[in-house]
Amino acid sequence: MSVDLRGRATHVRELMDDPQADEEMLGRTYQRFGAVNAVVSRPGRLYRQDIRPRAAARRIRILDIGAGGGDLCRLLVRRLRRDGLEADVTALDADERAIRWASAHDVGLGIRYRCALSSQLVEEGDRYDVVLSNHVLHHLDAGEFDAVLRDSQALTAPGGLVSHHDIARGRLAYTAFAGATWPLSRTLLAGSFIRVDGLRSIRRSYTARELAALAPSGWSVRSRLPARLELRWEAPRAGT
Ligand SMILES: C[S@@+](CC[C@H](N)C(=O)[O-])C[C@H]1O[C@@H](n2cnc3c(N)ncnc32)[C@H](O)[C@@H]1O
Repeated sequence: MSVDLRGRATHVRELMDDPQADEEMLGRTYQRFGAVNAVVSRPGRLYRQDIRPRAAARRIRILDIGAGGGDLCRLLVRRLRRDGLEADVTALDADERAIRWASAHDVGLGIRYRCALSSQLVEEGDRYDVVLSNHVLHHLDAGEFDAVLRDSQALTAPGGLVSHHDIARGRLAYTAFAGATWPLSRTLLAGSFIRVDGLRSIRRSYTARELAALAPSGWSVRSRLPARLELRWEAPRAGT
């Protein structure tokens, strides 16, 4: 029977969100996120279009909300270093298991790790040039979604950018992910939650139209290939 993708399957829970989840499988899941994201999330475009230009002007401050195993933070620091650019990168996650794993795999990149909600950083008066997330929006309930957007804006310095990335729910995304991960389920992805949670993530995700309907005034939704969404807000420059 084919999976119903007409609406968000918010009742479906991802295995990695279970506080009792097997720690070894969770660790393997964090470890595989980098390879999966390289294919599905294509972070190179975010780097080239939004991060590198800002980093050329100043030592850029980046916040990754829901950083998981920290693979996006590590990729950004490596690319910035390769281009001779400096950054202060913060990996934030509400799950202490993620922060523990990510900080143990920092490999000398100097990322700052915080186990907290974004509201705590707002209280502390933090400011960033780029606030981003990847595969987090679909995890959030309505209250958490509003809070993350509100906090993202509060945490963004004048002229800065908020860029939340996620999957666009759809038949093509579901079928392509199911087909691509099936042959890998006994090898590369064995002993991880990647395949089951990836399929559940697609079911929980938004379509572009659903996300646009939830986006507050001033935010925009962009559709990207392959089956990607970006929810974006740009902070006004100082004095405007
Ligand atoms: C699917 S993982 C994505 C990890 C990483 N961003 C990536 O793309 O590989 C989602 C992460 O978001 C975290 N998360 C969910 N809600 C959060 C919140 N309100 N604040 C911070 N982190 C949150 C979860 O703990 C989890 O580690």
